[in-house]
Amino acid sequence: FGRTLKLMDVTTSTQEEVRLLAEHGASEGTLVIAEEQTIGRGRQGRKWHSPAGKGIWMSLLLRPQLPLSAAPQLTLLTAVAVCRAVRAVTGIGVGIKWPNDLLVRGRKICGILLESVGEDEMIRYCIAGIGIDANLEPDDLPPELASIATSLQIESGRKVDRAVLIGAVMTEMEKLYGLYMEEGFAPIGHLWEALSVTTGQHITVKTAQGEVSGRAVGLEERGGLLVMQEDDSLTTIFSGEVHFDGC
Ligand code: BTN
Repeated sequence: FGRTLKLMDVTTSTQEEVRLLAEHGASEGTLVIAEEQTIGRGRQGRKWHSPAGKGIWMSLLLRPQLPLSAAPQLTLLTAVAVCRAVRAVTGIGVGIKWPNDLLVRGRKICGILLESVGEDEMIRYCIAGIGIDANLEPDDLPPELASIATSLQIESGRKVDRAVLIGAVMTEMEKLYGLYMEEGFAPIGHLWEALSVTTGQHITVKTAQGEVSGRAVGLEERGGLLVMQEDDSLTTIFSGEVHFDGC
């Protein structure tokens, strides 16, 4: 992964760059990295703050021959890969909040946006968008992010070599993707669980169907989050925003 690489000074969103390349037949593993994004996209229609030269803003093209229903598992796989790479390169104790936010001390340092394009229920391609707040300084965080986001530099007190971290993320992605293709989701799910800061917590999830509250008890095989509600009934959440109760 990352052997076909497009490096850009500025773009609207690396997701759009990869989408164009994919539509023109680019191969799996194609990677686009931008120094700055002018319309960086987050999950649920949010904007992703992507200042110049400070972070890692990149998108990776995947072409798995899998049904569209496998996309949530690829999202979790990407979170595991980035989490392991960040831990190995920086030594910072990063954890995963379901499904795919990376947190340090309860603050977000990385977001993942996996977009899938399908045909006849099968994935044509996926774009794994990864945004890592690597070398942002406190002043780089707009007021609305100051209390909920942080960066690797703020947490460790030193600059991260972005090229080294990008290389580590690609190596982990390639390794875990290979494992997933050979053995299915179970081993990835176990790795995810080991890095999760969600399991065991009392949470409230806002879903399109309404709010669910209870204790997060683990991952379900398709990649959903199992929640034990007050009345001891188990429910599975497939999308939504997790809030830790009491925070
Ligand atoms: C989130 O909301 O947590 C997901 C954020 C994903 C941001 C990355 S940065 C690289 C890629 N290009 C985008 O426009 N978004 C993703």
